[in-house]
Amino acid sequence: MTTQLMRIDFDKETGIGPEERSGTFRPEEKKFMEDLQGNILKSHGRDHSRHLFIRFHRDRAEEGRAWLEAMSRRVTSAMAQWDQAAKRSQIFAAAREQADPEAYLSIELAANQSAPFVGLMLSFKGYETLGYATPSADKSFKAGARNKEICQKLGDRPESDWEKEFREDLHALVIVADDSPDVVTGMAGTIRDSVEKGLDPVGKVVHEETGKVLRLRPNGPVREHFGFADGVSEPLFLTKDIKKAQKRDGTSRWDPAAPLKLVLAEDPVTPKGEPLSSNGTTGYGSYVVYRKLEQNLTRFNQQRLKLARELAKADGRKQPHEGDLELAGAYMVGRFRNGMPVGEPATANGVDAPIPNDFDYLHDKKGAMCPFQAHTRKTNPRGDTKWRFGTDLKEERLRRITRRAISYEQKTSSGEKKVGLLFLCAQSNIADQFEFMQQSWCNNDTFLVGGKQGELKTGQDPVVGQGHTGTKHHWPKKYGVAGATFTEGIEESVTMRGGEYFFVPSIPFLKNA
Ligand code: HEM
Repeated sequence: MTTQLMRIDFDKETGIGPEERSGTFRPEEKKFMEDLQGNILKSHGRDHSRHLFIRFHRDRAEEGRAWLEAMSRRVTSAMAQWDQAAKRSQIFAAAREQADPEAYLSIELAANQSAPFVGLMLSFKGYETLGYATPSADKSFKAGARNKEICQKLGDRPESDWEKEFREDLHALVIVADDSPDVVTGMAGTIRDSVEKGLDPVGKVVHEETGKVLRLRPNGPVREHFGFADGVSEPLFLTKDIKKAQKRDGTSRWDPAAPLKLVLAEDPVTPKGEPLSSNGTTGYGSYVVYRKLEQNLTRFNQQRLKLARELAKADGRKQPHEGDLELAGAYMVGRFRNGMPVGEPATANGVDAPIPNDFDYLHDKKGAMCPFQAHTRKTNPRGDTKWRFGTDLKEERLRRITRRAISYEQKTSSGEKKVGLLFLCAQSNIADQFEFMQQSWCNNDTFLVGGKQGELKTGQDPVVGQGHTGTKHHWPKKYGVAGATFTEGIEESVTMRGGEYFFVPSIPFLKNA
């Protein structure tokens, strides 16, 4: 007898799944999680990753579809990711009981030997090359990240300035991730061979990127290359994660819970042109924005120093001290390097305390503690658009993106070291979420206030804003003192080196490809 599955509610903000890892899923939730790829509702959480960019052979579409079908058995579903995490946390709990460090290490090693994460996504050109028509797809996805109007709208350098690997068609991206770089290399090799070798080569892995999570200490918070805690504030979709945030941090001012409709969209194409299921549990994936963002550390530190000098001057000192530098960096990012929000001075409470996320900017309508242009205030205004423009908070919250980025470090052929972020974000609509955020918030030097003619503007996001480099704008001269400002322009220190838009198809799509 088949069980009648209920529809999954895409609108509710209380999450999906049980409250605890040990709890059980309702049958429709289980089916939904088995059919959805991992790394969408929650990060895969592994420290090493390889990104394999694939171009399919145009004359081998049928073999390409057979390869997708074979990959359906390799990709990690959201359910498998949950089960693996449950197993790992059990093993870690056992390890913590061990007084003997050797025993701890061997158990920890065992925990790290879970299956690697594998995820697969296709670009619009990828679907086309494999012979699919995608009439219902997201408009920006169809146009692709190299589209001239999109580049102009986002303030990106023209495609001719991108790294050459991103200047040609990329059809698919496979992400392999694990805590062991050797496991990643092994699995990446197996997948590369499945594409290029054997009886039915289907294409070529035309480019690879290697990602590595940066931490100050083992198991410490994740950092990005400028030195700031990263991956802190994310929309949460699993009940377990939402409950944990409520308990640990509180959600009285900012609730990180998000409805599934923020991140999920229907497969833009189904194998037989029909919905994969009529009961709303299967046939879902997510649109992904991939951008290789190079970080110029020297330039970032110079900008920070410029602000720090002004802060010192305002305090009657000739030279900036460490505190000025810390505050200057926090003004740019919106959080101090350890993750403490710059607008919440009372929350600094010890090295290992959880990083606060239950805050907004409503007590700081003059931008005297957290400048309006700070990266986190631009990318998640937490209700600022309500008091400023009357926007419904619900509407503002639907602009959120789900970040799944990882840092990279590489040497050029001339031996020069380059570092940055392999930026990935998932959403249900690229134009309304990522593109809106980059164009209308980060790049927009009149968002959130400012912009009357002749007046100094708010300024662009000092971390990722593009298009107004060096334009002077206001910064708080004295922390918390409204109206006392100095003006300084910030040069851009993040450069977009190339990217593409993808869709992460459902597992039933791959199985029936
Ligand atoms: C938050 C760094 C690119 C959107 C953050 C945080 C840091 C950071 C340090 C604060 C910690 C956290 O909440 O995770 C960077 C760096 C980037 C970069 C170094 C590039 C190299 C981007 C881009 C976007 C973006 C391109 C989208 C246009 C966000 C969002 C948050 C965030 C939405 C969370 C804000 C909040 O909820 O408070 N980023 N970021 N970031 N960033 Fe970025």
